[in-house]
Amino acid sequence: MAVKIKTLSGYIHEYQKSIVNPEDFWRQQAEDFYWRKKCDCVLDWNFKEPRIEWFKGGKLNITENIFERQIYTRKDQAAIIWEPNSPDEDSVTLSYSELFNKVKQFSNVLLQNGVEKGDRVAIYMPMIPELAIAMLACARIGAIHSIVFAGFSSNALADRIIDAQAKIVITSDGAYRGAKKIVIKSIVDAAVEKCDSVKTVIVKRRTGEDVNMVDGRDLWWDDLCQGVSLDNEAETMDAEDPLFILYTSGSTDKPKGVVHTTGGYMVFSSYTFRNVFQYNQGDVYFCSADIGWITGHSYIVYGPLLSGATSLMFEGIPTWPDAGRYWDIVEKHKVNQFYTAPTAIRALMAEGNEFVEKKEMPSLKVLGTVGEPINEEAWHWYHDHVGKGRCPIVDTWWQTETGGILISPLAGIIPTKPSYATLPLPGIKPVIVDAEGKELKGNGVEGNLCIKFPWPGMTRTLYGDHKRFYETYFSTFKGLYFTGDGVKRDEDGYYRILGRVDDVINVSGHRMGTAEVENAINEHPLVVESAVVGYPHDIKGQGIYAFAVCNDLDDSADEEGIIKSIKIGVNNIIGPIARPDKILIVSGLPKTRSGKIMRRILRKIASGDYDNFGDTSTLLDPDIVEEIIDKSKL
Ligand code: WTA
Repeated sequence: MAVKIKTLSGYIHEYQKSIVNPEDFWRQQAEDFYWRKKCDCVLDWNFKEPRIEWFKGGKLNITENIFERQIYTRKDQAAIIWEPNSPDEDSVTLSYSELFNKVKQFSNVLLQNGVEKGDRVAIYMPMIPELAIAMLACARIGAIHSIVFAGFSSNALADRIIDAQAKIVITSDGAYRGAKKIVIKSIVDAAVEKCDSVKTVIVKRRTGEDVNMVDGRDLWWDDLCQGVSLDNEAETMDAEDPLFILYTSGSTDKPKGVVHTTGGYMVFSSYTFRNVFQYNQGDVYFCSADIGWITGHSYIVYGPLLSGATSLMFEGIPTWPDAGRYWDIVEKHKVNQFYTAPTAIRALMAEGNEFVEKKEMPSLKVLGTVGEPINEEAWHWYHDHVGKGRCPIVDTWWQTETGGILISPLAGIIPTKPSYATLPLPGIKPVIVDAEGKELKGNGVEGNLCIKFPWPGMTRTLYGDHKRFYETYFSTFKGLYFTGDGVKRDEDGYYRILGRVDDVINVSGHRMGTAEVENAINEHPLVVESAVVGYPHDIKGQGIYAFAVCNDLDDSADEEGIIKSIKIGVNNIIGPIARPDKILIVSGLPKTRSGKIMRRILRKIASGDYDNFGDTSTLLDPDIVEEIIDKSKL
């Protein structure tokens, strides 16, 4: 039986065990679950091809482990507490048995609509319970869900549907976000027009507005469920069958379809959830992420539900009707563990202390953060004002690709240090390497963060492109998984994540490939080329700064108008999260003689640091730098 770590010495002991014999360690963790057939081999791997297989030969269904395995003990316990956007609307609690019935029923709906094991299902929905129901129903019948964050544009959605060749799209009529009502279905309509693979669109009613339903293609969720049986036998899955695809940004323009498989992801998401958050039975756990991102997959749905937790799902935003919304929810539902992003903490901090001071929140025991480095000021504010100085903060470092948390304190067990993700979880072997790939041993070192041994929750491939999988993660430093992050290991052996070292920026905790944004800017008819970099932003962590070279501009050109239309273009091509904060129209970009853009220089200019550009001897045209500096100061 797997243990939950309860003390620091317990952590040290488990960590040692996991490193000496990882296979035994993970076999033990897997024993908590129900396997229709036990695996033949715990781990088979090499990082050269790469090939990573956990629990090979094992047969299971992840929803059987959420429901059938736990139903006798948890039948009436709340599985999901759903808090709507508006505090005036009632919250909804779904017990394990109610959620189970809804999942079985919708599984039957999917089967009746021709969805088969291995088919891809795209889900584009607001944070309503049906989003969780839809994903679990896919998992139950062996279909691969590909959830697309409902803030992406129709173009971005279409790219993802086409890449996954999804057969069906599940969506809603509209969405509520704070004071705004957002159309969802028409975005799906525009996307699906470009996608031949989609045969059916299932629409859940949320906002009640008129939507265009295409005959023979579009069906209402509620109509489809009418009279459908609540009996459904879960499909038998192989441990290594794909569970889901989740697209994420990389340093090249096309988003990558990160693939997670069934058995390893199940064991890892649940193990990390229980240990990091120190969840105890009966606790109410609230993660404020959107299920459209990996945090929502692993730590709203799979990890908590596999652990028999009560998971709170919130539809709205932290600042509406006012900046006390999260704290109202914590008090209303007596939340014990609260998990959010540094950008939300900074946004709330900027609203002043009055909202949080009004609330005692005695139920709170653990606070978590994820998505980007947390600055010390935000860490202290979170600790002092939200946690009232008595709740440990777990600064959890991980990625879409890692499936779950890799470096983090275990709440109340590993002593914390502001801005440090502290120590690796059992089973995780981080290494720091220099630019040449040489391992930097010992403490007090800084370099590129890599992981040298597989863990069960890691991604297995990029959908349809294993070569790119190898190139992105395993070719930079031979024999290692490269995270793309810079890191420091201090004198105590604690890890502090320093941010991305590749052409990826982190805007409000969302990963953005600079190439992706540049491509969207370049679609503008006047833009010849562009370069995008991140710069320090008080709330977002990093803002997006774009330098654009335009065609045929004379002195009378309306630069303001062009900038505005570039922003609208990016909005339409990717979505509001990619809209540049600043755009500077320039006559050229600083390039090397071989034509490479010197982003290092642009990053410095964007952050207002005009000194010390380092070696500029390879610059083709130094005058251009002067021009850009002058213009950026205007
Ligand atoms: C960054 C989110 C510092 C990091 C789960 C990583 C962090 C990227 C932290 C992954 C943290 C995530 N401290 N940086 N605690 N957590 N990051 O795929 O740069 O959306 O590579 O996964 O976010 O972002 P992703």
